[in-house]
Amino acid sequence: MKSKSLYPLMKNNISNKDIEYVTNFLKKKPILTQSKQVLKFEKIWSKWLGVKYSVFVNSGASANLLSIQLLKLKYPKGGEVIVPAHTWSSDISSILHCGFKPVFVDIDFQTLGMNSDLIISKINKNTKAVFISYILGFNCLTDKLLKYLKKKRIDLIEDVCESHGATFKNRKLGTFGWTSNFSFYYAHHMSTIEGGMISTNDKKAYYDLLILRSHGLIREVNNLSYQSTIKKKYKDLNSQFIFKYPAYNLRNNEIGGILGQSQIKRLNKNIKKRNQNHLLFLKKLNKNVFFTQYNLKGHSNYALNLILKKKSKSLFKKLTNNLKYNKIEYRIGSAGGGNQLRQPYLRDILKNKYYLNFPNTEHLHFYSLYIGNYPELKKEQIEFLSNVCNSISK
Ligand SMILES: Cc1ncc(COP(=O)(O)O)c(C=O)c1O
Repeated sequence: MKSKSLYPLMKNNISNKDIEYVTNFLKKKPILTQSKQVLKFEKIWSKWLGVKYSVFVNSGASANLLSIQLLKLKYPKGGEVIVPAHTWSSDISSILHCGFKPVFVDIDFQTLGMNSDLIISKINKNTKAVFISYILGFNCLTDKLLKYLKKKRIDLIEDVCESHGATFKNRKLGTFGWTSNFSFYYAHHMSTIEGGMISTNDKKAYYDLLILRSHGLIREVNNLSYQSTIKKKYKDLNSQFIFKYPAYNLRNNEIGGILGQSQIKRLNKNIKKRNQNHLLFLKKLNKNVFFTQYNLKGHSNYALNLILKKKSKSLFKKLTNNLKYNKIEYRIGSAGGGNQLRQPYLRDILKNKYYLNFPNTEHLHFYSLYIGNYPELKKEQIEFLSNVCNSISK
């Protein structure tokens, strides 16, 4: 289906301007491994987001892993991390790999994200963090949750991989938590082909992230007094090879840095156009058949989500058949294919059909899908897309 789609999930995300920017850069025969362009992109990104520090990595999943590795430095004995049943796999696998226990919470249809009251009901003395995912550009943060987390001194980690530029109370998502994660994978709001970012306002966390991104090496921190304190402690070690933490190589490279700098220039404009597309699509959708009451405040849409109101397998089959027939690419289950607890890596640990405890996520798993929303979509095309969807009720 991929190459033949008339309406793919993403179109033309690397522009001629991006390619020109990269080729002009390459002609200078520059350093290609992580260097000045990565740092430059990180600084531009921090300014765009409104945070002090950002660390460019090779994927959103790596940003997720770094967030939880950081949490592990704070809580070596582990503990519980609250996470949605409806999210991407790396939000959960990072928790498992770092020795924490994931505690799952159901979502609301209005936001596709975790319900604040449900999060609060799962918090106890073992809770070390809430790892929130903003799905398809919707905000699910609430004042109530933020206040509660502050009172209980529980860290918020924000997965903004699908929601660049979305806001809560006019402030960008990704500026509320201890750390925030972004993905620049090809199909997202902006792309460095593969890539991700982890952002924070905490200087100590920033230093640790630089170290964790690069094998655990302290030489990554460009601060001589920081380095010398550690060097003094380990006089038997060569200062170029002091591995402070057990870590991996999650670095990106200079081409990614150049692409990021080029793409971020049109990010705000693209977000505006995608949001217009989304609003038109929702206006045209048949409200008796599809759920349309999303929380649109501060949204930053990048895919058009369809949730059947009725749990009807035959209607859903009709929808997918219509989309296939019209060569419209789709993904079933919204983010990450629906209920993560049904996936083999969790299902076999949790047992007893634990996935059934999340009714809204279950509904999304079987009766929802998304189709692409890219800036180039024209009004007539959006009308055509909504007509194809609406035709299932005829
Ligand atoms: C919510 C969420 N988190 C993390 C990721 C992982 O990002 P990446 O594909 O860049 O590793 C994705 C991927 O799409 C995602 O949707």
